Amino acid sequence: MPSKRILEYPREEALLRKKSQPVRAFNRYIKNIIRDLKDTLKERPEGVGLAAVQINVHMQIFVVQLGAKPESEEKTGPVITIINPEVIEERAEDKGFDGCLSLPGLFGDTVRPHYLHIKGLNEWGKPFEQVFEGFDAVVIHHEIDHLNGVLFIDRITDPADLFTVKEDDDGKLIRVPVTIKK
Ligand code: NI
Repeated sequence: MPSKRILEYPREEALLRKKSQPVRAFNRYIKNIIRDLKDTLKERPEGVGLAAVQINVHMQIFVVQLGAKPESEEKTGPVITIINPEVIEERAEDKGFDGCLSLPGLFGDTVRPHYLHIKGLNEWGKPFEQVFEGFDAVVIHHEIDHLNGVLFIDRITDPADLFTVKEDDDGKLIRVPVTIKK
């Protein structure tokens, strides 16, 4: 069963800011969390990743949709699980689209690595090491931030880079600048 609710900023900010702990034992409890994360993400086609902290479980687990495209619901890859990630190398920083299921309706342009070499455990609790590139790297970097209590709005340096979207008179989506108190 998917989680009924994803924690939302700012109402539940304290919970979203809490750091996640490493998974020490891969057991039925962890498998159930992974199942919950996958089911919850599937019910939110606008999302491309979900960390356990977002369903109020403060453990280093997240799921990501690979092969996604910014500002699109088109997806070409599998959903994978990453546990206890460690960054081996990150580079190729670039500014691009960001958003979060815990900050509904809010979007931004953030600078993140587009080359990310990580190691961790996979959804079966087995060690793996892999390089992710392009938007996959961006999405995984966003989820690793969640494990440290960091939200994408923390990476906004220019207020003009934070926005919501609405339809203009011709039905085209346009960006509307947003100001939030941090
Ligand atoms: Ni997020």
